[in-house]
Amino acid sequence: MIKQDHLLTLLDYSPEEIIELIELSKKLKEEKKKGIPHRHLEGKNVVLLFEKDSTRTRCAFEVAAADLGMNAVYIGSSGSQMGKKESIKDTARVLGRMFDGIEYRGFAQETVECLAKYSGVPVWNGLTNEYHPTQMLADFLTILEHKGHLKGIKFAYFGDGRYNMGNSYLVTSAKLGLDYRMVGPKELWPNEELRNKCLAIAKETGAKITFTENPIEGAKDCDVIATDVWVSMGESDDAWAERIKLLTPYQVNEKIMGYADKNAIFLHCLPSFHNLETKIGLEVYKKFGLDGLEVNETVFEGPQSVVFDEAENRLHTIKATMLATMKHFYKL
Ligand code: CP
Ligand code: NVA
Repeated sequence: MIKQDHLLTLLDYSPEEIIELIELSKKLKEEKKKGIPHRHLEGKNVVLLFEKDSTRTRCAFEVAAADLGMNAVYIGSSGSQMGKKESIKDTARVLGRMFDGIEYRGFAQETVECLAKYSGVPVWNGLTNEYHPTQMLADFLTILEHKGHLKGIKFAYFGDGRYNMGNSYLVTSAKLGLDYRMVGPKELWPNEELRNKCLAIAKETGAKITFTENPIEGAKDCDVIATDVWVSMGESDDAWAERIKLLTPYQVNEKIMGYADKNAIFLHCLPSFHNLETKIGLEVYKKFGLDGLEVNETVFEGPQSVVFDEAENRLHTIKATMLATMKHFYKL
């Protein structure tokens, strides 16, 4: 049984608890497909705080809450007092009096930790600059579905390693005993403190962790290749020039996929810049002449890409996260 009130970062979870959440997600997914209702949290209310934009995370929390019998209230980046006229600590104490759970997407990890400390209700991290734990559950469920196991899986993450996705893949792979390769320029590797923490976790779990600047070494015989955007939400547009320079050799394309196992899958948390059909993608093309960024169109649309399975799994894993933590917290 999961003994956690919150999900702030998977660093706080044991490997067994992560696996348990993934297994619970699988069960809830099967029930949903069969039309078996699971309104285990009937009558509870949750609030979804989004200081940054979202399609998947917001929709997953809203649909999951409804499937569990709960009501969800969405608060966007404007319209509430939070952060402007009211501190996070005060906001936490107000929301905790009205809601049974709080989701937060925004900037500093400290903010989600402050909500957990002062609200007195379960809090879930829907993405901060530092971590994206609910995304990890979806990604590792997707790997499990396609590969049948997690331990020993050869996983290469290409690109920006020092932000939420890069940090979170490192933590989760260390916890679950993968053969994990962070592939990108040194400047964009996770910070030394996190690297050391994860290397210590790996010693206990049997994970193998490699940091490399060599794309061929990184991709070699991999079961899974993943990437993320080169400039994340909340970062300045001025970062594009530097990132393009640093990360163009790490674009996931047919050549990179060619070094991986022939049955390798491709993951991306989305949204992704893989063609010119987005406003930002077009702007970057006009300025820098690249028509695909972190992944090209061929790989994104190709048979190895499982990005929409991964997107769907956000729903099932977020549902499992709310259910498990609320069951523990409310002793249900
Ligand atoms: N992957 C992810 O978190 O997507 P959204 O930004 O759409 O929520
Ligand atoms: N690194 C990305 C992830 C989006 C889901 C960002 O923070 O924008």
